[in-house]
Amino acid sequence: MCGIFGYVGAKNNAGQLVVKGLKNLEYRGYDSWGVACKVGETAVVEKDIGKISSVDESQFSEECGMAIAHTRWATHGGVTPANAHPHLNASGTIAVVHNGIIENYQTLRDDLKTKGYAFKSETDTEVIPYMIEEEMKATDDFASAVRNACSKFDGRYGILAFHTESNTLVATRTGSPLIVGVGEEGYFIASDIPAFMEHTKVVQYLDDGEMLVTDGKSILFTDLETGQEHPKREIEITWSVEQAQKGEYAHFMLKEIMEQKDSIARAVNQDEQQIQVIADAIKNARGTFIIGCGTAHKACMAAEYFFSVVAEKHINVTSAGEFKVHHHFLKPESLLIVVSQSGETADSLEAMKIARGKGAKVLAITNAEGSTIDREADYTLLINAGPERAVASTKALTGQMAVLMLIAHTMVDKLHEGKTLLLETVSMINDMLNPRYVEHIESLAEEIQNTEDLYIIGKSWNYPMALESAIKIQEVSYIHAEGFAASELKHGPLALIEERTPCIALLGNDEVTPDIISNTIELKARGARTIGIAPENNEAFDEWIKVPDAGAAQAIVNIIPIQVFAYFLAVKRGMDPDMPRNLAKSVTVK
Ligand code: M6R
Repeated sequence: MCGIFGYVGAKNNAGQLVVKGLKNLEYRGYDSWGVACKVGETAVVEKDIGKISSVDESQFSEECGMAIAHTRWATHGGVTPANAHPHLNASGTIAVVHNGIIENYQTLRDDLKTKGYAFKSETDTEVIPYMIEEEMKATDDFASAVRNACSKFDGRYGILAFHTESNTLVATRTGSPLIVGVGEEGYFIASDIPAFMEHTKVVQYLDDGEMLVTDGKSILFTDLETGQEHPKREIEITWSVEQAQKGEYAHFMLKEIMEQKDSIARAVNQDEQQIQVIADAIKNARGTFIIGCGTAHKACMAAEYFFSVVAEKHINVTSAGEFKVHHHFLKPESLLIVVSQSGETADSLEAMKIARGKGAKVLAITNAEGSTIDREADYTLLINAGPERAVASTKALTGQMAVLMLIAHTMVDKLHEGKTLLLETVSMINDMLNPRYVEHIESLAEEIQNTEDLYIIGKSWNYPMALESAIKIQEVSYIHAEGFAASELKHGPLALIEERTPCIALLGNDEVTPDIISNTIELKARGARTIGIAPENNEAFDEWIKVPDAGAAQAIVNIIPIQVFAYFLAVKRGMDPDMPRNLAKSVTVK
């Protein structure tokens, strides 16, 4: 949540550079934007509400070798120019951008007020420049003052700061990601790699509890508390600038939906020895837990069915934010599987911390190599989906499910059978996602766009997909959508059905198909407009969206037409599917 980006080095258009780069991190927040450029010995600040993509960067000074910028997802304080970052101290010598939350800001703010500081914003962030200023009364060294100020902050944060009288950029991190791009002409420090990808693909990760100081020529990583130097590895990232761009598509969401024929294949292409090690770890664990948030949590729910049906193994699924209350079930022999596209989700990180505190092992299934979840796990399987930029998660979900399905097969010595199933599924998805198919779904979205309510039902692994369908439709189209286990309808939700209420049924070709057909007929009998997403048509459906029969991989196939449907509902209703209101891509606050 919130994107930050700073640069220091030999280039003299730092302000333009950081604003341009930050446009690639707009998915992290789009309430307001701001930039502070060090021009001579002053900090020139521009900030406003609105999206950073609407800012013309050419307006910023070309006489600037250091700048920091921010794109905001509001937590403390409304969406106003005063609450936009950067925040400065009263004399304007210290500039700060911040991602995360300073949890004890209220106490610090009250204390600072008694010392005469006057606050201009309602944010937690504004305490940071004042706290640094306070510390500078005891030391001339800006980095030391930042270190001392940070020792008084509670919470999770990533901070970038500079002082107008020094040429160094300082970054600290406890919880919110910060990655360094190592360029030939300076250092780029950002919440995520796409900010600086056009300049360098060589990165270094700032870890939790670390600080870095750079003047653009060299960089020093230290322990935030002790000041002890931490040596760092340079890592070359493998994905390309093109992968992180929209290309011919109107929106990232559509691009990422269409990419799934390739991204699922990449997810399936795992190192077989590594998959075997992980399958054995799950088999030998005394209690396996699987957690994620939002869409990743629905992948976890689907995995419960995969593991049960394919491997006859029970795993315990919980939403990451609910995991805390289950901690007493964890033992050193337990295993926690953490599923997260970004690898930075605060609730998932907290669950991971709890598990590690109990001595349990952690397996990460993530799309983000080098993310905190990747680096702190005992084992990682990367889904290799490539950058996912739309807030709505699409290709990450199918990649996560593919990897989990592969593990389930490997646990019963059927790795190759699982691989074949998934690769055949990829080929079926490739055939399915043709222009006529997409147009058919678009025309259905055109007809249904004005509905107020929409319900989705599923059974077995299609039940979590019904829940996921609801998330997808809610978040991009703002239509009230809800998913149910089909068998639950008659225990309450059936009362919601009115004449022509759209109800989508997700089906496969398996032993639960007759049950869900009956439930669909029950809906139709109450006047619902029924839409079947199924390999075969049935008189229970008013409309039919055909999907290939993918057997145990049906959940992976069935969610794809829903993603397309949600996308077109958003577009028809005039919404931006890539940037839904109130949401951000990477949820780094609890
Ligand atoms: O990066 P993560 O997979 O940990 O993110 C988890 C959720 O925030 C995410 O899946 C969210 O629900 C999506 N916006 C849904 O499309």
